[in-house]
Amino acid sequence: MTTDKSQQDQVLIFDTTLRDGEQSPGATMTHDEKLEIASLLDEMGVDIIEAGFPIASEGDFKAVSEIAKRSRNSVICGLARAQFGDIDRCWEAVKHAARPRIHTFIGTSPLHRAIPNLTQDEMAERIHETVSHARNLCDNVQWSPMDATRTEHDYLCRVVEIAIKAGATTINIPDTVGYTAPRESADLIRMLLERVPGADEIVFATHCHNDLGMATANALAAVEAGARQIECTINGLGERAGNTALEEVVMALKVRNDIMPFRTGIDTKKLIHISRRVATVSGFPVQYNKAIVGKNAFAHESGIHQDGMLKNAETFEIMRPEDIGLSETNLVMGKHSGRAALRAKLAELGFELADNQLKDVFVRFKALADRKKEVYEDDLLALMRDSGSDP
Ligand code: KIV
Ligand code: ZN
Repeated sequence: MTTDKSQQDQVLIFDTTLRDGEQSPGATMTHDEKLEIASLLDEMGVDIIEAGFPIASEGDFKAVSEIAKRSRNSVICGLARAQFGDIDRCWEAVKHAARPRIHTFIGTSPLHRAIPNLTQDEMAERIHETVSHARNLCDNVQWSPMDATRTEHDYLCRVVEIAIKAGATTINIPDTVGYTAPRESADLIRMLLERVPGADEIVFATHCHNDLGMATANALAAVEAGARQIECTINGLGERAGNTALEEVVMALKVRNDIMPFRTGIDTKKLIHISRRVATVSGFPVQYNKAIVGKNAFAHESGIHQDGMLKNAETFEIMRPEDIGLSETNLVMGKHSGRAALRAKLAELGFELADNQLKDVFVRFKALADRKKEVYEDDLLALMRDSGSDP
């Protein structure tokens, strides 16, 4: 297993916060907010930004066009159904980018085939026509068999082969309803790589939803099996239980690079800022215990943990807060806190206490902590004032 970064396989990060994320009911963003998030994604090193669904509305078309014009490094992608009109509209929006991509899709599982009422052969023909049409407009074309994880394997292999022959350069395998599990996610990618002619010449992507809470695990399993693009969103924003969270897969690949030797181009120090901006503009707050970017992800309240943290941060943290752009670990003062943390917090506030003074303050601190959920710096200052101490 190589540890030399330059020798490791690159995994492309495809962010769909502005498309799949925004599809989350209530997460609509304004035009200016979308431009701001796109520019943060671009600066952070996202390889491909799915900026919207241009046929969906005039507003989406304008946002995708403007993001395309302003893009600097990222590929700018728009989504289109398997219809010529959708694909043309998508191209009109993304063509302004230095590096445009058209992403076209159709539902291939039995349930999804029933909606347009197409036979397997009719759908295969539609895929051939639409992917060829997209490829005549743009040399970077992504195709997705929606609900791939519930599509019959033989049919999936057949349509993936058709899309590759028609010119698709990326094949995305969506777990549209968050139904798969890690082993199955890996087996599916492996099966496609083995069975589909031409599969080794294109990039396979993984696009997971989180209905069973397995989106991150499923995406990483797909990468281990050969997928080289992860589709994800900031904070895991997305319909129902959301999509794979960008910050989770990126930090997992960084922290456990010893067992998953892949690299991404993401500047992880920008993660916390973009997470907060997406939470604000989407109106979807991040849950406190959310991995990587939750308020409590680097916070410790229990006495044993705080003591360990004060001696050696690695005792209870597997990554450094600075790695995601936070200035420091947060030792939350509450009823579970111990004497060592109280001493350290008071020292930060300028109070150096002798052991007997600390003993006295600790008793009053615990009484206060029993009445309050969290003891803030102002509470500690008041406690010290009441005991007649000056910093
Ligand atoms: O979940 C899904 O299947 C999608 C496709 C449009 C790629 O978002
Ligand atoms: Zn999706």
